[in-house]
Amino acid sequence: SEPWVKMVTAQTPTNIAVIKYWGKRDETLILPVNDSISITLDPAHLCTTTTVAVSPSFVQDRMWLNGKEISLSGGRYQNCLREIRARACDIEDKERGIKISKKDWEKLHVHIASYNNFPTAAGLASSAAGFACLVFALAKLMNAKEDNSELSAIARQGSGSACRSLFGGFVKWNMGKVEDGSDSLAIQVVDEKHWHDLVIIIAVVSSREKETSSTTGMHETVETSLLLQHRAKEIVPKRIVQMEMSIKNRDFASFAHLTCADSNQFHAVCLDTCPPIFYMNDTSHRIISCVEKWNRSEGTPQVAYTFDAGPNAVLIAHNRKAAAQLLQKLLFYFPPNSDTQLNSYVLGDKSILK
Ligand code: PMV
Repeated sequence: SEPWVKMVTAQTPTNIAVIKYWGKRDETLILPVNDSISITLDPAHLCTTTTVAVSPSFVQDRMWLNGKEISLSGGRYQNCLREIRARACDIEDKERGIKISKKDWEKLHVHIASYNNFPTAAGLASSAAGFACLVFALAKLMNAKEDNSELSAIARQGSGSACRSLFGGFVKWNMGKVEDGSDSLAIQVVDEKHWHDLVIIIAVVSSREKETSSTTGMHETVETSLLLQHRAKEIVPKRIVQMEMSIKNRDFASFAHLTCADSNQFHAVCLDTCPPIFYMNDTSHRIISCVEKWNRSEGTPQVAYTFDAGPNAVLIAHNRKAAAQLLQKLLFYFPPNSDTQLNSYVLGDKSILK
């Protein structure tokens, strides 16, 4: 008879940090030097869709990313696969006569097909959605019983920021204390309905790939920046408390102040790295000035900005009216050309099974 194939498809949105993760205290387990908080985007726009399949006819684990086969030999993929396999449980599909025991999972191989619905080169939250989706889909395929926080600690070993994509709304990654990393995981602060009138606009300033990867950049910052030590010990712990409070109270003025300040401090520690790392460019700086000037003239902030390891601006508007005004300004001062484009998003839900 034909060998059977069992498949699961999942979809996971990306996330954008408003209190940044930058720097690891353990590079293998991916344990951060401080807590971070992020917003999960709407899966309709920036997300990864991953199908995982298992069959007795597969002779090795294989993966395709956007239709092209990639190697799974890297430590990050291997860690995720090993951790999920260790948690696999029995499954039985009576209709199709498929029975897989806990023991069988050690010998069975998987095929993984993953698609990003956004250009991978744009440098937008590249690996976060990918590893979160991979771990979530494998866990469902293998009938692992762990909840999303426990799965987040596995996704974290693929890419740190991935752990925050297991939940929707606002999400906190607790740095954790224990050496094995089991308490370095994500929890939901509030769900996507809590502050649904926020509008997120992404201004793609350059779709070129970044020059310094986050892995290399973080390593060099930890090795050389004294400012990072101060940030991680003295600044972020206080900001995390304040940020959680402004999110719970929907206090946009405080939220915007903290978000912009933390983005600027992240880029300051990059500048404090030896040799210095520059992620923002002239256009990024002009966008910051434009938003700062507008917020000041309004008396109360209308828009927050944040930039990751690249020049693209993530702008968070207080409501639809502020978003419309922001788009007008951006289109006037930064008319889209071959390299710039504008997109808007709303807060998103957690990973879903398709
Ligand atoms: O998880 P990584 O290695 O892609 O690092 C992400 C780092 C930032 O995006 C700059 C900040 C963050 O908290 O997401």
